[in-house]
Amino acid sequence: MSYFQHYAFAFMALHSHLLSRVTGIDSTESQTKVLHFNKNDARCSDDRHFYINTTKKNNLSCSKTTENLHSLDVLEISSKRLLAAFPLDPVRENSVRTVKNCVFSVAQPTPLKGPLKVAAVSKEVLEDILDWDVSAAETDDFIHFLSGGKLLPGSIPLAHRYGGHQFGVWAGQLGDGRAHLLGEYINRNGDGRAVIRSSVREFLCSEVMHYLGIPTSRAASLIVSNEVVWRDQFYNGHVKKEKGAIVARVAKSWFRIGSLEILASFGEIDLLRKLLNFVIDEHFPSVHASDSDKYLDFFSRVVTDTANLIALWMSVGFAHGVCNTDNFSLLSITIDYGPFGFMESYNPNFVPNTSDDEGRYKIGNQANTGMYNLDKLREALNPVLDTSQQLS
Ligand SMILES: *[C@@H]1O[C@H](CO)[C@@H](O)[C@H](O)[C@H]1NC(C)=O
Ligand SMILES: *[C@@H]1O[C@H](CO)[C@@H](O)[C@H](O)[C@H]1NC(C)=O
Ligand SMILES: *[C@@H]1O[C@H](CO)[C@@H](O)[C@H](O)[C@H]1NC(C)=O
Ligand SMILES: *[C@@H]1O[C@H](CO)[C@@H](O)[C@H](O)[C@H]1NC(C)=O
Repeated sequence: MSYFQHYAFAFMALHSHLLSRVTGIDSTESQTKVLHFNKNDARCSDDRHFYINTTKKNNLSCSKTTENLHSLDVLEISSKRLLAAFPLDPVRENSVRTVKNCVFSVAQPTPLKGPLKVAAVSKEVLEDILDWDVSAAETDDFIHFLSGGKLLPGSIPLAHRYGGHQFGVWAGQLGDGRAHLLGEYINRNGDGRAVIRSSVREFLCSEVMHYLGIPTSRAASLIVSNEVVWRDQFYNGHVKKEKGAIVARVAKSWFRIGSLEILASFGEIDLLRKLLNFVIDEHFPSVHASDSDKYLDFFSRVVTDTANLIALWMSVGFAHGVCNTDNFSLLSITIDYGPFGFMESYNPNFVPNTSDDEGRYKIGNQANTGMYNLDKLREALNPVLDTSQQLS
């Protein structure tokens, strides 16, 4: 496809001095396993799969040697490493407020009210990523766990504090309004309540993207309820009743460019360094912790990976639709499926979000948007770079 080549190369050429590998799909392609898994686990991968090192599988070899879990009772998930790595918001109340000097707040999910139904599951995500037998999806525990009614042992549900540039403007603190981090396995994207319509789209599209070979978060399950939420589908003032739904999403990490920006913006530089070190240590094995250029090296990897990701989006005509810095993963995986769309025939002005009148996030602008976002990442890194390292 010529438009793919055009955009891919235009974008990549601009970064050629930073690009170390521009072809092929990075091995993070099949990545989207668990949230934040250990370095040791990441090593245990082949070209399609990583395997989680759960407590059940201490002797992990790189093939599935253990049976999947049929009962969710025996599975433990943990928020321990995240809690150990970062100071936690001392306030435990679940309300919208400005949070300082922390990366996470404890936030109990509000259960989706019944009657509930499992509308869809991804067998592959359940079995190959989470090591659950797909039959576990028929249990009550599964429904309650993935819809916020019940917490698995070890889970301390967290909301992540981040910021972001939205539509070209610094939007200050954003943070997980709808999403909860349930522990080091899964992220339940639940409200604030999504509606079935958007949840089905997220469930299907993230699976499609995975099979197209594009780095993405995965969807484990889609649970729907009869609980009614009110939504203005076309943002035109016509509010309609719709059913609520929750998608359980799985990704190696949910940290975003905005996760760093908020800390830089509030001058929380120690915490900025801590988060960077954590992300590098967990997810960028090729960046050496002792290297004085490690943050630059990290930046250069994110530039490469983001260029790759956007080139892959362009190759299939995918328009993300809301390319704000809070929707851009530091691991350069596709996250936050909102008003995305696929271009039906070549049209660089294709805009999937019907309210994006100026076409800021039109498909033909995704490479520029990527550059803009990477520039915001660069600005967020400036406080931890010395003057000779600062890029302008
Ligand atoms: C799996 O986890 C156990 C316990 O944390 C650890 O001792 C072991 O080294 C891990 N194995 C691999 C291959 O990462
Ligand atoms: C781990 O598993 C492998 C293959 O399943 C086996 O050969 C090896 O002996 C095991 N190691 C331990 C320490 O149990
Ligand atoms: C992505 O960006 C939009 C707009 O900034 C934000 O409201 C939303 O929470 C983010 N995530 C998703 C799932 O759209
Ligand atoms: C679509 O674009 C409009 C206008 O820029 C923006 O306000 C809105 O948040 C976007 N929609 C979503 C779902 O992000």
